[in-house]
Amino acid sequence: MTQSDSKSLSDTVISFDQVQHYFGDLLAVEGLNLQVRRGERIAILGRTGAGKSTLLNLLIGNMAPTSGTVRIDNFDPYVQHKKLQGRIGMAFQQARLMPWRTALDNVCVGGEILGQGRSERERAGRYWLEKMHLGDSFDLYPNQLSGGMRQRVSLARAFAVQPVFVLLDESFSALDEVTAKTLRKDFVELADEEEITSIIVTHNIEEAFDLAHRVILLGRPAKILREYQVRDVAPVGTPEFAEVRREIQNIMLDPGSSTEV
Ligand SMILES: Nc1ncnc2c1ncn2[C@@H]1O[C@H](COP(=O)(O)OP(=O)(O)OP(=O)(O)O)[C@@H](O)[C@H]1O
Ligand SMILES: [Mg+2]
Repeated sequence: MTQSDSKSLSDTVISFDQVQHYFGDLLAVEGLNLQVRRGERIAILGRTGAGKSTLLNLLIGNMAPTSGTVRIDNFDPYVQHKKLQGRIGMAFQQARLMPWRTALDNVCVGGEILGQGRSERERAGRYWLEKMHLGDSFDLYPNQLSGGMRQRVSLARAFAVQPVFVLLDESFSALDEVTAKTLRKDFVELADEEEITSIIVTHNIEEAFDLAHRVILLGRPAKILREYQVRDVAPVGTPEFAEVRREIQNIMLDPGSSTEV
């Protein structure tokens, strides 16, 4: 193996290779190939039923693909589940905090599962809460926090396990647009600074382009219909972006998009 081969291998955090998945006779994922590099943020857009949840389930090892391979840090997430246990950070539409625990204790829960001592996990918890601009809210309970602050705690909790990657599943969609925009900006800054690899599932086209380096459009059954390098696309809000947005909407609305574009 050459040096550049070994570098490119170690740079790949997530890899789907010819992945197919059937539920009985139903083809849910069709020959999917996807490589995600360390520090890269990928947004996944797809109509309902496209197979987004199925992909996430394959990714976190909840099930094995019918054929093909899924690898995270070169581990098979289904067969080698234990190697990755607690090392995937997740944040959902609802913050899912434990109401009887303070912000800090909520963030420390991953460290507890990983068996870290109290001082180690609290150090990490404080660090990530500060990074999420909640340095003065360690001891507050979820019902003392706004929706945006709760989502910040949830992101801090995802980061605090030193994740191989983080999975954001509609994490900003329950927030008002102003709050969501600020939080997206903070997330991107932090993810850049800490080289956090991320998979972002969203229904919001602007959000996908605000957050990601690469936006992937999934057809149904799940396969990549179109891929956008965000740096090659005009910024969100410009007339040129509106064109791209229309194109995406047409692909997503067109029933023919289940065949090759
Ligand atoms: N456990 C299951 N058993 C049988 N069929 C399933 C199962 N899970 C998903 N499917 C089917 O697989 C296809 C993909 O579903 P999936 O839930 O992955 O879509 P999705 O993109 O997450 O949709 P949504 O945006 O509505 O969440 C659908 O046709 C769905 O009915
Ligand atoms: Mg789903």
